[in-house]
Amino acid sequence: MTTLSDQPVLALQNVSKTFGSKENPIYAARDINFGLYPGRTLALVGESGSGKTTVARLLMREYIPDAGQLTFRGAPVQGASKASLRAYRSAVQMVFQDPFSSLNPTRTIHHHLSRPLHLHRPDLDRKGREAAIIDLLARVQLDPARVLHKFPHELSGGMRQRISIARALAVNPQVIVADEPTSMLDVSVRLGILNLLNDMKSELGLALLYITHDIATARFVAEDIMVMYAGQVVEWGDMDSVLTNPQHPYTRLLLAAVPDPDRRIDAAAPQNELARVEDIRAASARVQTEVQQIAPNHFIRKINL
Ligand SMILES: Nc1ncnc2c1ncn2[C@@H]1O[C@H](COP(=O)(O)OP(=O)(O)O)[C@@H](O)[C@H]1O
Ligand SMILES: [Mg+2]
Repeated sequence: MTTLSDQPVLALQNVSKTFGSKENPIYAARDINFGLYPGRTLALVGESGSGKTTVARLLMREYIPDAGQLTFRGAPVQGASKASLRAYRSAVQMVFQDPFSSLNPTRTIHHHLSRPLHLHRPDLDRKGREAAIIDLLARVQLDPARVLHKFPHELSGGMRQRISIARALAVNPQVIVADEPTSMLDVSVRLGILNLLNDMKSELGLALLYITHDIATARFVAEDIMVMYAGQVVEWGDMDSVLTNPQHPYTRLLLAAVPDPDRRIDAAAPQNELARVEDIRAASARVQTEVQQIAPNHFIRKINL
């Protein structure tokens, strides 16, 4: 078991990203701090528009932070040489929400897997690449004979997402950022994809950021959780501690919205909070720099209601 004292592979320190204009700023990410650790999954949970994909794009270096920095294996990513930026880009891979639009409709599955191997694994010859493709398909539990020469539209959504995962794994990444990887899939195939993420984490020792609006799936894959709202992480820490003892009113609202047969809704958010939803949202959206520690690995941003 990896411990929290180990070095994070990838960390964000006080990272902010603002869109919009000076008069009308949109604080998509505000003073974000977290680390991703080998063999651990961190869930980033929040409703639509809270800033989750912005965090993913910051990690992928599609967005450059307005403030703060990323560190990879302890070294700042900003100002890194071209070679180390290339290494970073293969070490940090993304799995997208829509497996269809992230695959090229005119190319076979074989092409989708051989291309990253070509680019990032110069150690492999043709035979080595073919063997690696078979290994990758085995890892995502697909039968090579059934998928290798198919086009993306000939596969089901769940199979396509497995191909996206195999493609991400092709370059031997250390970090996977999965942005709502099951939200466009049939309910019946979601669990299979989540199990796959869990296997990758434990078997390959990957560091995972699992982004979702769905706390129930977060609990299934992640050891740690961050609850994001209006660009700020309002509560974070150990999954069990945050879910059994939520201390930020916004987290309690989010939990109250989740049907859970084991608990009553008003156990998550008391009536007086459910009656003040708009107040809580407004207060949670205001910038708040003061942090309160709840448990050894459980924190909230203070809120002035
Ligand atoms: N490239 C962009 N330009 C302008 N506004 C953006 C851009 N990307 C995101 N936003 C805004 O930032 C906020 C957070 O968006 P996003 O990160 O996509 O949230 P989520 O993934 O949680 O739904 C939203 O208000 C969104 O409209
Ligand atoms: Mg998003």
